[in-house]
Amino acid sequence: MTTKSAADRTTVLVCITCRTPTDPDDTPRKGLALADATRIALGDEIDVDVKHVRCLGNCNRGLSAAIRRDNAWTYVFGHLDATRDGPTLIAGARLFASSTDGLMPWRGRPDPLKKGLIARVPPIDFDGEPAELT
Ligand code: FES
Repeated sequence: MTTKSAADRTTVLVCITCRTPTDPDDTPRKGLALADATRIALGDEIDVDVKHVRCLGNCNRGLSAAIRRDNAWTYVFGHLDATRDGPTLIAGARLFASSTDGLMPWRGRPDPLKKGLIARVPPIDFDGEPAELT
């Protein structure tokens, strides 16, 4: 079992209110199924946190989840699948946890986290980048 300090925890936030456009408007929604699948994929390890969230503002491109880490970028993903992407999210979170530059590596990232990337948001203490492209 792996443990990390609170400062370097990686968290998967799964939107439990997401549904696909053809799903009924009632519950349980497929987002909750994705959250359950993500917890199952985590297994007995506690190296990653999995939390529920109600709406990431990505409703038209659900199912949705975010992966974040302190002092690192935050990634929002869409077009996830409840039957496929529990393990995808855990693999992405573990890959992100292993990075040393605060970015989720592209190489080795599961395909749904490449094709389904909606946004990446810099850390709170981000100083910005120079306007000139190099
Ligand atoms: S309901 Fe899931 S992003 Fe809005």
